[in-house]
Amino acid sequence: MNSETPQLHWWQTGVVYQVYPRSFCDANGDGIGDLEGVIRKLDYLCNLGIDTIWLSPFYPSPMADFGYDVADYCDVDPMFGDLATFDRLVIEAHQRGLKVIIDWVPNHTSDQHAWFKESRSSRNNPKRDWYLWRDAKPDGALPNNWGSFFGGPAWTFDATTGQYYLHQFDPAQPELNWRNPDVKAAMLDTLRFWLRREVDGFRMDVVGLLIKDKDLRDNPPDPHAPADLLPNDLFGRQLHTYSEFQDENHAVVKEIRKTLDEFGDSVGIGELWGPLDSWVRYYGENGDELQLPFNFRLMYSPWDASVMRGVVDSLEAALPAGAWPNYVLGNHDQIRLASRFGGQAQARVAAMLLLTLRGTPTVYYGDELGMENVPIPPEKMVDPQGLRLGAHRSRDVTRTPMQWDASTGAGFSLTPAAAEPWLPVSADFPTRNVAVQGQDPCSILNLYRSLYQLRRASPALYAGSYQPLDSAHDCFVYLREDGTERRLVALNFSSEPRCVSAASLGQDGSVLLSTSLDRTGMVPLNAIELRPYEGLLIDCSII
Ligand code: GLC
Repeated sequence: MNSETPQLHWWQTGVVYQVYPRSFCDANGDGIGDLEGVIRKLDYLCNLGIDTIWLSPFYPSPMADFGYDVADYCDVDPMFGDLATFDRLVIEAHQRGLKVIIDWVPNHTSDQHAWFKESRSSRNNPKRDWYLWRDAKPDGALPNNWGSFFGGPAWTFDATTGQYYLHQFDPAQPELNWRNPDVKAAMLDTLRFWLRREVDGFRMDVVGLLIKDKDLRDNPPDPHAPADLLPNDLFGRQLHTYSEFQDENHAVVKEIRKTLDEFGDSVGIGELWGPLDSWVRYYGENGDELQLPFNFRLMYSPWDASVMRGVVDSLEAALPAGAWPNYVLGNHDQIRLASRFGGQAQARVAAMLLLTLRGTPTVYYGDELGMENVPIPPEKMVDPQGLRLGAHRSRDVTRTPMQWDASTGAGFSLTPAAAEPWLPVSADFPTRNVAVQGQDPCSILNLYRSLYQLRRASPALYAGSYQPLDSAHDCFVYLREDGTERRLVALNFSSEPRCVSAASLGQDGSVLLSTSLDRTGMVPLNAIELRPYEGLLIDCSII
């Protein structure tokens, strides 16, 4: 690294890999992935070349929202293992140099959480105010007009005490009242519980929602709401003016960050959407909020080079001093990137984009195989969002079992005669799996491996500056630079060949990698030929 390169944190230089534990590897044969399964695949992850594992929820849960409904923040659901297995996972990961971050779901608990059971038991219960209970309006209407993200109103009536409780997701996910200091203290303690078990940080679920408008005012209608929403999609018809991103939320996030800082260099990665100007505030003043507010902007972009460049450039311009960018192209809530961007060729270009931009990349399990959306027969659909808002909104398609090999069930379950997996295995598993792709030098799996290796070995890529270059239509070309080390990235988003120029950088460059994995050697920088949907990573360092 160049002597002037600033010392970076582990969460800046490393690649994050999201494991959805239900779907990664099933060690005990019950058809649901588990923590032991993750342990058994740590060598795979290590050899793949990623740096940090993010585990989606494994807490005790009735699974109304597949673990995002937490019944106990300080334990492991028996279907995933136990605390001892979790501790072993952390030790084994750390021994391999991998960091472990876990999901933290602060906005809502399960309705089966002991806190909610107490809270709903009577209006006088000491935990009554831990959740958001309200009377119906005098005319019998709901307390306000907010819609639930999963369809229907955000209020459910509880006959025991004759009041409504708030839930912006499933009715089985009542929302905590973060204005109550006891709630805040109890939740911050759950962070400490896991930090003491040596986790390296947290991915924080819908952390922009914690504080709601004090008076819970009605949300205004969204004048730009799509016309084809289902009648029950009240959420989709509203602006969320009073239900998310309240100014007062920042004070809470600062306290969350302070708690992380009690334990050294622990990272907070927040699930945050919203417009750039409100999103960027979650880095905090002088970096005192989240180190990485998740940046989903490329995930929501169309497959268009100039749009993607615009997204990156506007992000770079908006970042406050010292804030570190990050990019996400897939997760457990979005359709698979290979399906979203149009196919396998596009998925390869997307991989090169994600892993060569300035900032921390997060990769979703199975994207390294080019996994596509898996059609789920109606009787097998389980996602509450899809069940209420229609099959096109189902997230099941992106949560199917990881494809390890060509054996029955794609090697997802490690025991013979295992139960049927909780979601169907993709029909393409005989060819799209780790074992087969591992043997194919030109597979997308080997593209990811090469990208991880080249990134790890190059300060220009993991730490250097980003500078976009003007280029041919349909191409996104940029330079990453650290001292004399320079990496040029040229991505062709079109189905036609393109020729781009980076003549200002010198005469020739050396191709380190093509997304097709079939090309190296020198190229003239004034005429870089790109095949359809080809990306090139080119060394054009100053010698
Ligand atoms: C987040 C999670 C999603 C979950 C929701 C409610 O958006 O990523 O999976 O359904 O929050 O917890």
